This record gives sequence, structure tokens and C-alpha cells, in this order.
Amino acid sequence: MKPKVYITRQLPDRALAIIAEACDFRMWPEAENAVPANVLDEEIRDVDGVLSLLTEQWDGARLARAPRLRVLANMAAGYDNVSIPDCTARGVLVTNTRGVLTETTADLTWALLMATARRLPEAERVLKAGRWQTWSPMMLTGQDVYGATLGIIGMGRIGRAVARRSLGFAMPIIYTGRHRHEEAEAELGARYLPLDDLLRQSDFVVVQVPLSAETRGLLGARELTLMKPTACLINTARGGIVDEAALYDALVGGRLWAAGLDVFASEPAAHDHPLLGLDNVVALPHIGSASIATRTRMATLAAENLVAALTGGRPPTPVNPEAWSQ
Ligand code: DGY
Repeated sequence: MKPKVYITRQLPDRALAIIAEACDFRMWPEAENAVPANVLDEEIRDVDGVLSLLTEQWDGARLARAPRLRVLANMAAGYDNVSIPDCTARGVLVTNTRGVLTETTADLTWALLMATARRLPEAERVLKAGRWQTWSPMMLTGQDVYGATLGIIGMGRIGRAVARRSLGFAMPIIYTGRHRHEEAEAELGARYLPLDDLLRQSDFVVVQVPLSAETRGLLGARELTLMKPTACLINTARGGIVDEAALYDALVGGRLWAAGLDVFASEPAAHDHPLLGLDNVVALPHIGSASIATRTRMATLAAENLVAALTGGRPPTPVNPEAWSQ
């Protein structure tokens, strides 16, 4: 008998073909709407594996509804939507899609940094609304990127890919994180600093740590106050790492120049979210990895992980291999 699988969103055909060959599957058929919680709870009762997006939460209560579950393949590099201790305790292997979205997310981070520094969306709004009267010396002036100091919080795969792109802009690179990365220091000339010093010295602060108990609210009112009033904060990691109310106050109070945000503490962000009303916020709907090729690759990697784990193979990107060895 083939393993039974539930897929929480419509996936690209290439990923479905991988699953269909080895498993019997049911799937939430919509591409743009998440599966309702009650439907998901019902669907997972008899499955051996789930391919999930980051929009679904997997805590102990939900896992208890899936007594046969052995594999949870998350179609994301981040897995803060999954309680890893609960999964491990129940022998559920979790996999992610690290590695295949690094460059695409670094590209978007860079696009957001440039757009924020040079006020691109605001400038386009002026033009398209017919508010462009004349060329004037200080109209829509922004911050220089070339030669500015880049501060990276979290020098993991994506952090390093962002830093690599800055070399063409002659930016001194400073970074912080749990560990020093001697390779990044050698390759990029990056300098390790404690968080407070990084915030004081950076012109652009890029957030690239995963969301965890340790990083939730990492940038609060105290930390934002340390930043230069001319600095930009760029977050393409997870919204919960930044205290949004404190960020709003800092931006409105002129203590921080601008923010570029691809992620929000609660997603989707409401259209009347206070940060969306600010001209010095460039905001995107969590599209860091959204290129056609990368999203297709993420879906196929999630499918490969799921099938390998359910058919006795070795999943390419496990998160808690200790559960797998059980
Ligand atoms: C991830 O993979 O964690 C991103 O947030 C979505 O690509």
C-alpha cells in the first residue's frame, strides 16, 4: 500500500508528479487561500505524511490529531510554524527547503534595500499621481548605498549572499549572530560585532536570523534607539523579530530613517496596519523567495523530502534527523 499524504496547498505539477508516483495524496485545491484549520484537522487524521506551507501551524494539539504522521515536509527554509520538540517527541521527521532559495531571497533583500534607500515606491506614487511639478534640488532625496556600512544580523546562507552582493557597492560589512563565521570574514572582510555596536555603526541593518524564542522581539524600542537616525532597517526574515509598535514609533519620531519590510508579525498584514500608512516604509507581502524557478524548486524539494522519508530513503534536508533515526 502506498503511504497516504496530505498537501496543504495547490502545488506546481512537477512537485505533484513526484508525490503521485510514490504516494496516495489529497490536496487542498486552492492556490491563493490557506486550508481552514478545521479542514486540515480532519484531513490529517489518517495520513503518514504532510507537505505544509509556512501558513499552517504545527503544535502539539494539531500533531495529536495526526496519530499516523511520520513526516512533515515544510515548503520553506524557516520552520517557526512547527514545534520541533513536539514533532521529535512524536517521532515526526520535519524537513525544510534550505539552500534552494538563498540567492533569490538575497536578490529581493537587495531590491528592498535599494528601494528603501532611494524611496522608489514613494517616487513612483508622486509621478503616477500627477504630483511631479518640476525638478527640484532636494525632491525625494534618499540615502546613499555606495560606501555605506552594511550591518547583517545573522550571517547564515542568506546573510552571506546579501553581504556578497554589497561588495560591488564598496560597503564595509559588519555582522552579528550566535557564532563568528571565519569563512565570511575571510571571504568578505566582514567584521563581527556585538548587536548593540552593530546597530550604532550601521547605515543599513539587514535582519536575517530565523525566528525562535531567542530572536522574537530581538529589535525592540531600546535596540531601535541605538540606530542612526539616517539608517534603514531591512527585514526579509520574520516579522516577529522586530517589535512593530516600537518600529512605528521610531519611524514616526524621526529616530530611524526608513524601513523595508517583506515580513510582518502577523501575516497577511491587514491593509490598515499602521506601518503601511508610513511613506518611509517600503512594504512587500512576503515575496523574498518568489521567483518562478525558486518556488518551483522549493515545492519539488519539499516533495522529494516527503517521498524519501516515507519510502525509506534519506531526505535531502531534514531538520530533526534524531526523529528520523527513531
Ligand atoms: C522561507 O522559506 O522561510 C521564506 O520565508 C519563504 O520562502
